[in-house]
Amino acid sequence: MINSRYYLSLLLPLFFSAIVYGQTVFKVDAGNIQAEVQQNMWGVFFEDINMGADGGIYAELVKNRSFEFYKPLMGWKREGKAYKEGDILVINRQETQSNNPRFLRVKANGVAKSDLTLTNEGFRGMGLKKDLTYEFSVWYRQQKPGVQLNLELLDSKGNVIGTGKFTPEKADGNWHKQKTTLVCSATELKGKFRIAFEGSGEIDLDMISLFPTDNWKKRPEGLRADMIQRLADLKPGFIRFPGGCIVEGHDLSTRYQWKKTVGPIEERQLIVNRWNTEFAHRLTPDYYQTFGLGFYEYFLMAEDIGADALPILNCGMACQFNTAEVVPLDQLDEYVQDALDLVEFANGPITSKWGKVRSDMGHPAPFNLKYLGVGNENWGPQYVERLKFFQKALKARYPEIKLVYSSGTDPEGERFEYLDKELRALNVDIIDEHFYRSPQWFLDNAKRYDNYDRKGPKIFAGEYAAHNVKTATPDNKNNWLTALAEASFLTGVERNADVVHLASYAPLFAHVDGWQWTPDLIWVDNLTTYGTPNYYIQQMFSLNKGSHVISIKQDNEVIAGKDGYYASAVINKKTNEIIIKVSNYANSEREVELDIAGVKKLESRGRNIYITSGMEEVNSIEKPLNVSAKERIAKASGRKIKARLEPYSFHVFKFKATL
Ligand code: AHR
Repeated sequence: MINSRYYLSLLLPLFFSAIVYGQTVFKVDAGNIQAEVQQNMWGVFFEDINMGADGGIYAELVKNRSFEFYKPLMGWKREGKAYKEGDILVINRQETQSNNPRFLRVKANGVAKSDLTLTNEGFRGMGLKKDLTYEFSVWYRQQKPGVQLNLELLDSKGNVIGTGKFTPEKADGNWHKQKTTLVCSATELKGKFRIAFEGSGEIDLDMISLFPTDNWKKRPEGLRADMIQRLADLKPGFIRFPGGCIVEGHDLSTRYQWKKTVGPIEERQLIVNRWNTEFAHRLTPDYYQTFGLGFYEYFLMAEDIGADALPILNCGMACQFNTAEVVPLDQLDEYVQDALDLVEFANGPITSKWGKVRSDMGHPAPFNLKYLGVGNENWGPQYVERLKFFQKALKARYPEIKLVYSSGTDPEGERFEYLDKELRALNVDIIDEHFYRSPQWFLDNAKRYDNYDRKGPKIFAGEYAAHNVKTATPDNKNNWLTALAEASFLTGVERNADVVHLASYAPLFAHVDGWQWTPDLIWVDNLTTYGTPNYYIQQMFSLNKGSHVISIKQDNEVIAGKDGYYASAVINKKTNEIIIKVSNYANSEREVELDIAGVKKLESRGRNIYITSGMEEVNSIEKPLNVSAKERIAKASGRKIKARLEPYSFHVFKFKATL
C-alpha cells in the first residue's frame, strides 16, 4: 500500500521545480570584482546653448547690458513724454576700448521722473521675487552732477513692483562703477526693469546691470542658485565646459577663447553665440555670450559642487557643420599656447603669469586641473594633424594632465572608425564619444563596451541622449521612454567602468522660452527649474555608483537586453553596500530573484529606489515630479532578494552587507 506521504514526497519536487522554472534568477557575485569605479565617473556637460549661461545660470537680469549686440539697443526701449530723437545716443569708442566699445549718452533737459525712460526686457522677461533685494550697478561718466536715475522693477503689465534711487557720486569726467539696491514687492515671472531719468545734464552709461542677491553661495553678480543646486544634487564627478559646438564657433573668429573670459567683467569682449542662428526653426537673434560666466567662474563652480573641471579647447578648427575653417599649421602656436596657459591659469603658482591672474581674481590656491580636452566634434585628418601639436606640447610640459580627444560626431561610421584608430595608435589618454541616437539604439547597444580594448585609451561618453523623434529636431521629448532606454544602456556603461571613465548626458540646461535644442537634462523658466526623467536616471547612477563593479548574470550571461532585462551591480567598499541596478524594459510586471554570492552577510531590509511610468510621460514646470524616483523597502531572505519590477521600470536595490 502506497501511503499519502509517499505521494507527497513525489509531488513536492515537481511543485518546487515548477516555481524555480518560472522564476527569473540573476546571479550576483560580490566576490567577483570586475572593475574599479572612477569616483568622478558620472558628470555633467555644460554648454551655453538653450540660454544656459546668459539668461540661465549667469544671474544677470539685464539683456545687452553693454550695448554690444549687433543691434545696440536690442532688448531696450527708449520711451517717455519728453523723449526726443537724440536724447539717448549710442556712442562707439572702438579706438580706446575695443573690448567694450559702445556706451549710451543720455541728455536730460529738465525732465521730471517718467518723462524720459529706458526699459530692459530681460531674457524672455525677468524673474523677480517678492521681498528679494536686487543689486543695480552701472558704469557712468559725467562732467557735472545733474541727472538722477529712478530705478523701477515692473511686472508684466507695467505696474511698478520695486523702486530705488541712484545718484551718481562722482562728476570728474572719468568712468566709475557705482551700485545701489532695491527691493521687490511681488513675484513676477516676466518682469522688466526701467530707468526713469530726472533732472538736467548729460551722463554716459555702460554695463547697466541688475542681479538678484540670492545667488549661489550669495556671491555678488554670481550664478542662479536654484540651477546650480540642480547640478549639486547630481553630485557630479566632473563638469565639462564650455561645450560643445561653441568651443569651435561658427567660424574661427567666434570660437571660444578662454583668455577673453577672465579678468574684469567690463573688459571681457562679448561675441555672438553660435546657437543664435544655427537652427532656422529656433532662431534666437538675441543670443550672445557676454562671458560674465567665464573660465574663472566655471572653475569656481566646479570646485563648489565638488566636481573636477574638464575644459575643452579649440583645436584650430571651426565647426565642420558650418564654415569648417582651419588654422594653418604654421599658425597653430597661439592655440597651443592657450592650452598651456590654461593649465598655468588653473594650477600655476601665483608667481606665474596666469597663476597671478587667477589669484588676482580671488583664488590664490590652484584649482587642481586634471583633464583637458582638445577639440569638440572635430574629425578628419586635419584634426589629427592639429591635435598632434597639442599632444606634444602638453605632454612635454604637463605629463600629469589627462588629455581628451574627440572621436567626432557619431559613435560609428567612417569618421568614427578613422579617428578611433588614429587616437588608439597615438595611445591618447581619453577618447570622447558622442551619441545622440534613437531609444532603440540605446537598447541595442548595451553591450557596446563589453569588447573594448581594456589596455587602450579610456572612454569619455561625453555627450549622449536618446532622441525619440529624430536627432536634434524640435519635437524630441524628455519622456520616460528615452530615460528608460538610456538607463538600460547605462547599465552597460557601468559594467564597463574599467573602460568608460567618464559619462555625461547632453545638453544640460534649456530655458522653456529660449531653447534651440531638445531634449535637455534640466528645464527652467525665469523662476523655477525641473529635472527631466533623464535627470533622475542620471542621478540614480551618480548617487549609487559604488566603488567596484561586480558580476551579475542571467544564465551565465551579462544582462543586456534578453527578454527586456538590463542589469549591472556594484559594491561600495566604504559603506559596505551592494547595489544592483535593473531595468525592466517590458510591458509586464515581473519578479526577479537576485541571488547574491560572495558576501558574508546580507541585511534583511534594504532600499529599492525606482521609477515607473507611462512611456510618453514627461515632467514640466507644473508637474516637476511626474516621473521621478520613489523609494520603498526591499526585503532579502538569506542571500536572496525578491525584486518586483513594474512594467517599464528602472530600479536600484541597495543593501548593507558584510563584504
Ligand atoms: O549638445 C548639443 C551639441 O551637440 C553640442 O554642442 C555638440 O557638441 C553636439 O553636436
